[in-house]
Amino acid sequence: MPYLKPERPEKVSAPSLRASKERGEKLVCLTAYDYPTARIVDEAGIDIILVGDSLGNVVLGYGNTVPVTLDEILIHVKAVRRGVERALLVADMPYGSFHTGADDTVRAALRLVKEGEAEAVKLEGGQKRVRLVKRLVHEEISVMGHIGLTPQSINQLGAYRVQGKTADAARRLLDDAYALEDAGVFAIVLELVPREIAQMITESVKVPTIGIGAGVHCDIQVLVFHDLLGMAFGKLPRFVREYANLRETITDAVTHWAEDVRSGTYPSDAESYGLPAEAAEELKIETKK
Ligand code: KIV
Repeated sequence: MPYLKPERPEKVSAPSLRASKERGEKLVCLTAYDYPTARIVDEAGIDIILVGDSLGNVVLGYGNTVPVTLDEILIHVKAVRRGVERALLVADMPYGSFHTGADDTVRAALRLVKEGEAEAVKLEGGQKRVRLVKRLVHEEISVMGHIGLTPQSINQLGAYRVQGKTADAARRLLDDAYALEDAGVFAIVLELVPREIAQMITESVKVPTIGIGAGVHCDIQVLVFHDLLGMAFGKLPRFVREYANLRETITDAVTHWAEDVRSGTYPSDAESYGLPAEAAEELKIETKK
C-alpha cells in the first residue's frame, strides 16, 4: 500500500482539532508507550499520540488498567515526548489519580503536563466528571473526554461490553457527550458504542469524536498500537484490524538468531573485532589475514 503523507504537516494542537472537524478531515490517533514507537508513529504522520493506560494491558502485563499508577504513566509519557514532534501528545489520567478531589486531580494532571510535557490529559467518565473537567480547563489544562466503555470501571461493569445498546443508555451517552462538551473538553473518545449512536453523537457535538469500536462515522479513529501490529496476546475485539503480525516477525527473528548462535555461524568475523597486527605480533598471536 502506498505511503500517504498526512494532509496537514504542521504541528497538531488541541484547538486545531475542532477546525479539522469543521473541514471534514479524517484524523488518526494511536497509542505509544516508548521512544522508538513514538518516533515511528509521529514520523508516519499520525495526528494524535495517546499514552493510554492500556499501557497496563499491553506493556506492563497487568490484567486490566486499574493497577496503572500516575508514576508509571509519567515514565512512559516522558519517553514518548522525546520521540514526538508533530502529533498532539495526550496522557491518560490513570485510575485513582482523579478520584480524591479536584485539587488532587489538578496536581496529577500538572505532573503529566509539566514533568511529562503532555499537551493534554484524558479522563474517563461522562457527566460525573464535569466538575473536574471544568476545573482542569480553568487551570489551562486541555482535556479529552472518554465515554461509552470506560475500562477503568471494569470492577463495576464485570466485563468489557458494548455500551449504549438501549434507548435509555444511548440517551445517557448523548447527555454525557453534551455535558463534557459544555465543560470544555476538546475531543471525546467513544469506546465500544453502536455505530448509529456514535454517528448521532458525532453530528450533535462541535468537538471531534474519537472512535474505538464505534464505527466509521467518528471524526477520528484510535487503536492500541500493539493490537494494530499483532503484538497483543489473547482474543482481540472485533473492531481491531491487524495490519501486521509483529509477534510472528519477532519470533522468527529471535529464533533465527538463536539457531545461528547455537550452530556457530553468529557472530562472523565481520561481526567481531580483530587484534591490530603489532599487538598480535608482540603477544605472538596468529591473526586471520
Ligand atoms: O488507554 C487507552 O489506550 C485508551 C484508548 C484505547 C482510547 O483509552
